[in-house]
Amino acid sequence: MKKSGFFILEGGEAVGKTTQLKLIETALSEKGYEVLTSREPGGTAIGDRIRAILLDQAHGNTIQPLTELFLYNASRRQWMHEVVDPALAAGKIVLGDRSFLSTMVYQAYVQGIDPEFAKDICLRAMGGRVPDRIFLLDIPTEEMLRRLKKDADNKTSRYDVMEDDFHRSVREGYLAQIDRFPGLIEKIDGQAPVDEISQKIIGRILDAMD
Ligand SMILES: Nc1ncnc2c1ncn2[C@@H]1O[C@H](COP(=O)(O)OP(=O)(O)OP(=O)(O)O)[C@@H](O)[C@H]1O
Ligand SMILES: [Mg+2]
Repeated sequence: MKKSGFFILEGGEAVGKTTQLKLIETALSEKGYEVLTSREPGGTAIGDRIRAILLDQAHGNTIQPLTELFLYNASRRQWMHEVVDPALAAGKIVLGDRSFLSTMVYQAYVQGIDPEFAKDICLRAMGGRVPDRIFLLDIPTEEMLRRLKKDADNKTSRYDVMEDDFHRSVREGYLAQIDRFPGLIEKIDGQAPVDEISQKIIGRILDAMD
């Protein structure tokens, strides 16, 4: 079925983005839609190399917030050009694991880069195209810390091993974006049962493409 749409799952560590993307991709594919799932940063040859630099725990103490802002957006520019724009032009649904909203939270809100500057860089990297809808999976920080502890053996990103206060600030930062981008972000209770969450998001995606 040729019907394009650009949707993103967002939220801090362990809120359930990857779990949901798999379920949503499967359900939409079964309904006959052509779906492309991709993650940020990465999703292209250049982007995957940038991703490795960004998520390397060895750089945790040296990388500057502005360096991060530019690297994320360098990856994002390639992703939009090589992945998102062609897929939408071909009538596919693009489902993204993170987006510019992560930059607004991690580099601007948490690390103090001017949010208007960050927003401008992000929008330029996206070539002016914004997602149709961003689903923000939200869970209390205590639940996030519990999930991270449970999955500790699988966690290698430097964000997963940050202090508790970092995760608290990330959650606050996400909630603060809802008013910065009116009508774009829908908050979803990430503590609801997995299938309930996916049904809700699938319903919203289908409505948005009508
Ligand atoms: N609705 C839910 N209720 C309870 N546990 C959940 C729910 N959704 C996901 N989980 C669990 O939370 C953990 C993190 O899930 P997942 O990897 O999907 O999160 P994520 O947002 O992709 O994390 P990351 O940012 O680290 O990639 C997993 O152990 C998963 O099974
Ligand atoms: Mg994930």
